[in-house]
Amino acid sequence: MRALTLGLSLLLIAVPGRAPAADAQNGETLAKRWCTGCHVVSDEQRKGSDMAPSFAAIASQPNFNEERLAFFLLEPHPKMANMALSRNDTKDLAAYIGQQKRR
Ligand code: HEC
Repeated sequence: MRALTLGLSLLLIAVPGRAPAADAQNGETLAKRWCTGCHVVSDEQRKGSDMAPSFAAIASQPNFNEERLAFFLLEPHPKMANMALSRNDTKDLAAYIGQQKRR
């Protein structure tokens, strides 16, 4: 019985109820696929459109907040094609953008 209880509690630790941590690497893949037409998404990219802020600029805003950004991305912003990002995709993108904060 003891072993069973231990096993169960280990299972609970291994499978937390919350979503897995955001994956910035996947965010980078998504950004390079979907966002480069308008935004400069990384240092390697030379030019986006003049209208859209670079991801580094977005991350460096004083009130930048990853969770709010992920929420913002659930809705397509004006002039942006509907990309139907999943909740996990938006989190990954937000984590990727957050990494570009200027120090
Ligand atoms: C068709 C062009 C276009 C594409 C593609 C696009 N964006 Fe944008 N985005 C814009 C423009 C233009 C703005 C600025 C005006 C606005 O807020 O609508 C903007 C604004 C934003 C902002 C808000 C910046 C701020 O601080 O106000 C975020 C965040 C953002 N985009 C993220 C993304 C991400 C992530 C992707 C890819 C998944 C993406 N965008 C794809 C055109 C685009």
